[in-house]
Amino acid sequence: MKIETIAIHTGNLIDPATGAAIQPITLSTTFERGEDGGYPSGYMYTRAGNPNRSSLENLLSKLEGGVDASVFSSGNAAGGAVFQALDSGSHVIAPTDMYHGLRNLLNVVYKNILQVSYVDMSDLDALRTAIKDDTKLIWVETPSNPLLKITDIEAIAKIAKEYQITLCCDNTFATPVFQNPLNLGADLVMHSTTKYLGGHSDALGGAIVTKEKNALWKKIRDIQELSGAVLSPFDCYLTVRGIKTLPYRMRGHQDNAQQLSKFLESHQEVERVFYPGFGGMLSFLLKGGSEQARKVANSTKLFTQATSLGGVESLIEHRASIEGPDTKTPRNLLRVSVGLENIDDLIEDIAVAITESQGL
Ligand SMILES: Cc1ncc(COP(=O)(O)O)c(C=O)c1O
Repeated sequence: MKIETIAIHTGNLIDPATGAAIQPITLSTTFERGEDGGYPSGYMYTRAGNPNRSSLENLLSKLEGGVDASVFSSGNAAGGAVFQALDSGSHVIAPTDMYHGLRNLLNVVYKNILQVSYVDMSDLDALRTAIKDDTKLIWVETPSNPLLKITDIEAIAKIAKEYQITLCCDNTFATPVFQNPLNLGADLVMHSTTKYLGGHSDALGGAIVTKEKNALWKKIRDIQELSGAVLSPFDCYLTVRGIKTLPYRMRGHQDNAQQLSKFLESHQEVERVFYPGFGGMLSFLLKGGSEQARKVANSTKLFTQATSLGGVESLIEHRASIEGPDTKTPRNLLRVSVGLENIDDLIEDIAVAITESQGL
């Protein structure tokens, strides 16, 4: 089956009791036991498992070409489950431009629990040099945030295999439509389903998909069930619903982002555009510095000035100010999540905002 068909059918179950063509939301937290004390439905208690969660996990696993998936109450909870599954004292190698929320999770919560080295993942020699005897996890995020740098997953997977290190890829920006890290040699894929998968900026969630059901996977599953940061049945339902249109939405995001990047590249007030050529995320630098960038973000009418990404509506953000004082993000950078509005309207909106910001 091709991705459009998987996206529509794999997460759906026709309800045997009513014939409802769309799977109902099972809000019940508990499930009836049989006479023998067993659970005929296969479900016992919603923290351990729920029909809507099973549907979403099955769908994500098929979309990424994995064998199983676990969904969590946020992307950070999903990433955190991988960190928590490591033995304490393990060494982790993460990218220098890792999503700042996950970097903060490692730096603050895992400060005395894991050792972390940050490496420029485009420099394979630097990666090799950073590997230690107790390195247990290499984390990559590609395209990266907010500079949209590309990492060679296949090359890093070869190094990870050589040293028997688990490789996990944050695939939030690319989505399974543009990139399947498991097929390129990664062991785990992480998603903030809050973004393109949900697609409508109304359901927080996260997922880990695995290539193999091994001991690490068993631990991640235990963390999901026993720590209990699970995704609610309603949010599972919304995410399954959002994914049905994912392949078509991603084409629209990409078309719009390609056109917007061309417009920005030719604009005299723009110093540089970062766009990898695919997907719906881009960022750009303004010649007029931080003040001009803030003014543009404050002036657009269709692009909402807000963090996050991946919804049908366009968002614009002065990234350095949300990442905090230790950020390395240029102060004149604006990050854009290009939505599905008509591209002529989007270009006009940003063109007017840049004109209004000139000469500040
Ligand atoms: C690339 C990336 N990874 C992970 C996350 C964390 O996801 P969540 O906000 O759902 O916890 C985000 C959120 O912005 C993200 O952009």
